Amino acid sequence: MQKSVVKDPGLAETGEKRIEWARRHMPVLNSIKEEFETERPLEGVRIVACLHVTVETANLITTLVAGGAQIAVTGSNPLSTQDDVAAALAARGLHVYAFRGEDEKEYYDCIEKAIEIRPNITLDDGADTIALIHKEHRDMAGDILGGCEETTTGVVRLRAMAEDKALLYPVIAVNDAETKMMFDNRYGTGQSTLHGIMNATNFLFAGKTVVVGGYGWCGRGFAMRAKGLGANVIVVEVEPRKALEAAMDGYRVMPMLEAAPLGDLFVTLTGDINVIRSEHFLLMKDQAILANSGHFNVEIDIPALERMAVEKSQIQKDVDEYRLKDGRRLYLLAEGRLINLAAAYGHPPEVMDMSFANQALSVRHIAEHGREMEKKVYAVPVEIDRRVAQLKLDSMGLKTEKLTPEQYKYLHSWQTGT
Ligand SMILES: NC(=O)c1ccc[n+]([C@@H]2O[C@H](COP(=O)([O-])OP(=O)(O)OC[C@H]3O[C@@H](n4cnc5c(N)ncnc54)[C@H](O)[C@@H]3O)[C@@H](O)[C@H]2O)c1
Repeated sequence: MQKSVVKDPGLAETGEKRIEWARRHMPVLNSIKEEFETERPLEGVRIVACLHVTVETANLITTLVAGGAQIAVTGSNPLSTQDDVAAALAARGLHVYAFRGEDEKEYYDCIEKAIEIRPNITLDDGADTIALIHKEHRDMAGDILGGCEETTTGVVRLRAMAEDKALLYPVIAVNDAETKMMFDNRYGTGQSTLHGIMNATNFLFAGKTVVVGGYGWCGRGFAMRAKGLGANVIVVEVEPRKALEAAMDGYRVMPMLEAAPLGDLFVTLTGDINVIRSEHFLLMKDQAILANSGHFNVEIDIPALERMAVEKSQIQKDVDEYRLKDGRRLYLLAEGRLINLAAAYGHPPEVMDMSFANQALSVRHIAEHGREMEKKVYAVPVEIDRRVAQLKLDSMGLKTEKLTPEQYKYLHSWQTGT
């Protein structure tokens, strides 16, 4: 098995320094790491971690190694790998196959190399390892106790597999833990999506019209932060309850066809395909900016944009200009890949602290109970979710109110009325 494939091993020292900075902001994960060092719950377990290779992920990997695991790391998106982090992990002697700017073949070659470790547990952010194993390496499934999935899009894919009775091993939907989704997707994606757009363009949000596609956890977070910077936010939603929530949160709500001529910036966060497409490009203002923060680069119909453009040129890093026949210019950021990871650092360590605490404890759960679990998608056990919240509160020096015995009884009985 080839040891590692990274862009520049010389970046290892910079990577280690940045990993240490993130570590200092991930107290919950650190406490789990200490527990793992003592108890070694993952002794001899082989893990493939197909995740965004960032400083926060490096701290998750450190935690799993502390628990006794052997790990092969690969990226979960061609543009999200931080090359200094990949170099640092490789310099520690881990199997690492990831570099920024992989083409599709290189991306899948890296996952292929990682699964040569013959995993007992798979960690995914977008379900690409699980999909590859199910399509091409079904013989490996017998050794696999279970998998963990980090993001909404991956969970959607896995639920579809479970419905088709196609899953060969159990999976925990880490994304759906409350201490993941409500914080990572909302505050993490909310803030880092702005960061990516500002890094790529130096865009001023104040006074601009920003069209947000999707008002789920990520869309809510981004809309809230864009509004906070003074943008006029329009929300485009397909789900009536979410659309209603957006309206009552104070945003204009309309279909994309109506929003298309109004927006200065369009951001998709849906997990859906072709949310912005040719009929919308035709109506957009000159110099409208298009960005995606959903998992795959399918939310903006890039092939249609390519076909409609008479000229394409790179203006600066992460900004491509598409000149249309009538002279209008549309700018696509980071090739339509998740802007927060392609053009910024991704989520801050403080939120990834909770997401990866859920990952680490879910991995332990699979190592200990995988053999008894069915081939379906499981929620993160509620004890884990509550424990992560409590540890995070403790680290922030915050205390909760405690129920009195009287209140406990009242809340658990039906006898008392008016
Ligand atoms: N950038 C990141 O770092 C990051 C982090 C977490 C999640 N994600 C990804 O972001 C995407 C959204 O995640 P989420 O947790 O907010 O999901 P969610 O399910 O909570 O929200 C998605 C919303 O999009 C809406 N939607 C679907 N199709 C639409 C369409 N055509 N037009 C308008 N709205 C549409 C849905 O009704 C839903 O309300 C997923 O792909 C997820 O994997 C990215």
